[in-house]
Amino acid sequence: MCGIIGILGDHEAAPALVDALKRLEYRGYDSAGIATVNDGHLDRRRAVGKLVNLTDLLVHDPLPGKSGIGHTRWATHGAPTVVNAHPHRAGPVAVVHNGIIENFRELRAELATHGYAAESDTDTETIALLAQSFLDAGKTPVEAAEAAISRLEGAFALAFLFDGEPDLIVGARKGSPLAVGHGDGEMYLGSDAIALAPLTDRITYLEEGDRVILTRAGATIRDAGGRLVNRPMRRIRVDAARIEKDGHRHFMAKEIAEQPAVLARVIDAYLDGDALRFPTGLPDFAQVERVVMVACGTAFYACLTAKYWLERIARLPVEVDVASEFRYREPPVGPNTLAIFVSQSGETADTLAALRYCRDKAAILSVVNVPESSIARESDLALPIHAGVEVGVASTKAFTCQLAVLALVALKAGVDRGTLDAADAAALRAALRSLPGLVSQALNAGEAIEAVSHDLSKARDILFLGRGIMYPIALEGALKLKEISYIHAEGYASGELKHGPIALIDPAVPVIVMAPRDGLFDKTVSNMQEVMARGGKVVLVTDAAGARAASEGAWRVIEMPSVPDVLAPILYAIPAQLLAYHTAVAKGTDVDQPRNLAKSVTVE
Ligand code: AGP
Repeated sequence: MCGIIGILGDHEAAPALVDALKRLEYRGYDSAGIATVNDGHLDRRRAVGKLVNLTDLLVHDPLPGKSGIGHTRWATHGAPTVVNAHPHRAGPVAVVHNGIIENFRELRAELATHGYAAESDTDTETIALLAQSFLDAGKTPVEAAEAAISRLEGAFALAFLFDGEPDLIVGARKGSPLAVGHGDGEMYLGSDAIALAPLTDRITYLEEGDRVILTRAGATIRDAGGRLVNRPMRRIRVDAARIEKDGHRHFMAKEIAEQPAVLARVIDAYLDGDALRFPTGLPDFAQVERVVMVACGTAFYACLTAKYWLERIARLPVEVDVASEFRYREPPVGPNTLAIFVSQSGETADTLAALRYCRDKAAILSVVNVPESSIARESDLALPIHAGVEVGVASTKAFTCQLAVLALVALKAGVDRGTLDAADAAALRAALRSLPGLVSQALNAGEAIEAVSHDLSKARDILFLGRGIMYPIALEGALKLKEISYIHAEGYASGELKHGPIALIDPAVPVIVMAPRDGLFDKTVSNMQEVMARGGKVVLVTDAAGARAASEGAWRVIEMPSVPDVLAPILYAIPAQLLAYHTAVAKGTDVDQPRNLAKSVTVE
């Protein structure tokens, strides 16, 4: 959470800092701020709320200087106020921080006894105060930053800027990502490649525990043990970090619409004619006894869907868990286990911690959208999902691309284990090839869904039902709806309804039933009848055959193209996304940056 940027430049830093923050706003948008050194003097500007408020402030109260740091905040300690906004300043030092300092209370109390009083509620201000105390004790800025960092427990990506030091930024990372950008006579520091892309295409990712001294002449990196280290410089594709709405009203709308293209791209990446094209390192599934899948949020629902595939197609036992539970449960993970971690950002703190728990216990595979992310780099093998930058906080194209990659993994597992014969493997390949076209057709339901959403936007509670492989899509539909429309929504396995949730049914609670005409259709329809018998208003999402068989009594029907059963979850993710999107638009919420959320959750 939170995005940080640092620039030692040749031009005025403020516009470039703000531009980078715009690109980092997906990480948090409770407040934003920048600090610069101008004529040797450190100064800062901070504003609550969206970045536009900081931009307005800078118009009236500009901040000159060619070196600076900036921050966009997702609040952890202390409300989103100006006082709690970064950069935090203590005398001659300013600090921006992404992460959580777990021992900040002890440090704060200790500093207070020495006369260094905090004015904010944040953990970050403690870092600035610590550095100030070390400067007062006679240390140089670099030494003071190092000494402060060595006192910190918890997770951090940090940038320090000092009064009187226009050619110095000190950075550090532990648990939160940080990258160095190399310019020509300019140097940069940023949370990710997206922030740095317009400034440079040459990037060095810092490793866990690294500290960096940045001057315009270059970067000196030391590892956690203080040893000088060389970290590789990589070229990034600047166009890959392009973030534009391309004529769409919201990033989410653009990302939903991109799905036929990105699905075609990811399927092409792994399926070459009849041959699967995985990078070397993917295990022979005949040797795998068990699969453990771990993720958070939408990525967790991708794992839940894959469980159905791996169990059905490859007869492999699969356990799925949310990372925040898995990491502390300390479950036994045996040697013939494949541990799969799914993450769009590749930086989710809980998923990364779960991965680290499995290291040395199992083979580690990750499915990520950001190939240079921490999760990708710490895996034995990372499979990119090729979705392109996803900006909307609500994950859409990343979800369907995760599913496509996981379906391809299940295909390989079925072939390796001999549980999928040649004809079934060919049918699955053909189904995957047909998917982008079917998704394109599903998008045509947009207008019908918009009309339904207008009515849904008046509801206080909404239920989603699905059975079998559609159950995870019911969960995903509910998550999507609540995160951007703020309407309370729950997903249930349709058969589970009568064990409690059916008590919620009344005419004010719309029930969205995800039911392609598959082998379980009749069972789901029975559950739907139970809802209608109690006055529930059903939105049936189904195909033409399903609509013919079961529309009677339904409040609304949304028709999808027919799709091979096994891939229905990918197709039915589209109406789930569109329902959430149009409901949120009808309610007038902030679709791309919903309240209280951030795209990348790098704190526990
Ligand atoms: C989905 O719409 C979310 N905003 C959220 O649940 C997300 O999927 C989750 O935080 C996991 O993120 P990751 O894929 O980047 O690890």
